[in-house]
Amino acid sequence: MAFLRLDVSQIMCGIFGCILKSGDVAPLMRQALERLEYRGYDSVGEATVQSNKLFIKKDKGKISEVHAAVNLDDMPGSIGIAHTRWATHGAPSKVNAHPHTDCDNKVAVIHNGIIENFLELREKLEHSSHIFKSRTDSEVVPHLIEEQLRNGSDLLEAVIETVRKLKGAYAIVVLCSSYPDTIVCARKESPLVIGIGKDAVYCASDIPAFLPLTNKALLLEENEVALLTLSKVEITNSETGEVVSRAPFEVTWTRQAAEKSGYDYFMLKEIYEQPQAIRNALRTQRIYYDLVASRIDSADVVYFTGCGTAYHACLAGAYSMAKLAGLRSNVVIASEFNQVHTNLLDKKSIVVALSQSGETMDTLNAVREARARGASIVSVTNVMGSTVTRLSDVYVGQNSGPEIGVAATKTFTAQVTVLTRLAIVLSKKRGRTSSADTENLLEKLAQVPDAITSILKQQDDKVREVARKCKNLPSFCFLGRGISEVTAIEGRLKLLEIAYVPSLAYAAGESKHGFIAMVEPGYPVIFVAPNDETHSKIIGNIMEMKARGAHIISIVEEGDEQIKSISDDFIEMPRGIPGIMTPLAFVVPLQLLAYYVAVEKGHDPDHPRNLAKSVTVE
Ligand code: G6P
Repeated sequence: MAFLRLDVSQIMCGIFGCILKSGDVAPLMRQALERLEYRGYDSVGEATVQSNKLFIKKDKGKISEVHAAVNLDDMPGSIGIAHTRWATHGAPSKVNAHPHTDCDNKVAVIHNGIIENFLELREKLEHSSHIFKSRTDSEVVPHLIEEQLRNGSDLLEAVIETVRKLKGAYAIVVLCSSYPDTIVCARKESPLVIGIGKDAVYCASDIPAFLPLTNKALLLEENEVALLTLSKVEITNSETGEVVSRAPFEVTWTRQAAEKSGYDYFMLKEIYEQPQAIRNALRTQRIYYDLVASRIDSADVVYFTGCGTAYHACLAGAYSMAKLAGLRSNVVIASEFNQVHTNLLDKKSIVVALSQSGETMDTLNAVREARARGASIVSVTNVMGSTVTRLSDVYVGQNSGPEIGVAATKTFTAQVTVLTRLAIVLSKKRGRTSSADTENLLEKLAQVPDAITSILKQQDDKVREVARKCKNLPSFCFLGRGISEVTAIEGRLKLLEIAYVPSLAYAAGESKHGFIAMVEPGYPVIFVAPNDETHSKIIGNIMEMKARGAHIISIVEEGDEQIKSISDDFIEMPRGIPGIMTPLAFVVPLQLLAYYVAVEKGHDPDHPRNLAKSVTVE
């Protein structure tokens, strides 16, 4: 099949299903899971069926740890499903590990994604006497299937009826002890690939899971359900009920290329994952936001803290909360927090800590000291069960899935998304935004992923061209006003981190108090210039730089002829993104610019020298 890059939706858990003509499936499943461990690794589980009986092994920990403890290879049967988890709902634990089962232990389900309406579904199921064991959103699925089976549906019908009730994103794989030759799988927004082997059939969240076993693959599309047996693969569209015919294609990738879904580096893949990462960030239940907004609203003192990119997300969040909700807050780099600020905290203070990993030592130190002073801790993190979640009174998951590139990209936009939504909810709570305006803002936020998709489609080549042109320049300056100053400093950080280009970033208005001395003909100045309230002033700043011969590269809204006409190069963003949401979109070309400059210079953007993904020392 002539595709270069696979759809990079929902990258979280690794899932695998397999039917063999003969032999034990368990060792093969464990090996497949090891090939998927880059997708998530906080807990592991497998289910097999033999003689109409379901067998399950699962526990918290990495595959090697769980295997050492329970011997995952020792499970009977030639049909099975397996899962490696990246927690979103429910902390990593044995009970929250997949597979999840129905009340009778007949149906086992593994799931990748987030089911948004699980609370409502769970409540209904509990009313009809279903007993839940875990705190996951996924567990509603086996119980819904159980209901359908009890009502006389066969397994395929039961899965179709079940997925029709789900809102959100899912790739699910279902095994049922009454159907010992069959696996049923389904997807929406989360990827699912079927592998067709000799005397075997597989399904997985990602091609690397079965690549050593077969290179014949078939992609499931949105809302499709597949029934797998050794003799056939039958695909049905769950919305229309129509049977779909699709021929398999030959995978020509190496395993390394397959892990990156055809992208050259994880960083580029993760930049492209941002539309989905933002959608996932928005899938956290509203109640968490209401809870956090209430706490912030009643606090006397509010701090935001984090390191690196997370600190930049704090700056963007604090800006939005000031602008929209009138919140007075302080943003302090975590490594500086304890110098002065902990002394200013008490029981009426709140510290909002941002940390992708949840393990950054400086952030944890700030949080620990703040807790010791009685402050409440709210954290926004990508890793459920991480230290920061354990130190927090409330935490909000950003749901980005593992980020492998050292330079944060999708986790930045996901964190900004969480804080922007919080600002909207807080503003409503404080009576500063009407219900209609709140809904309108939430709607605009939900539209940002589509805007980013169009930026990626339309501007990637243009950014690459600018990168080629500028790759040998010794230094850059990034300028922006208002919230765009944050976008500028985050863009600068990416370029420093992976392309090793010493660069500056300023509030554009401040540039005349120092930076302007650096400007000489040809010096590249990147202006983050959305069409918000800063627009007319930034034109003045561009003119100041232009008058001194700077090479002007502007990130502008489509059709902004005024700025385009005074720029040497420009990258156009979709129109109509509200000011506080512009960092989400306008940072994308800056991430791409850093990436392409790094690649043009021959650097590996995934492994920048001297940097670590998670810095666990002071
Ligand atoms: C390191 C990483 C950065 C990250 C920072 C904070 O410096 O290289 O990409 O932004 O740590 O990490 P955290 O996990 O706390 O968000």
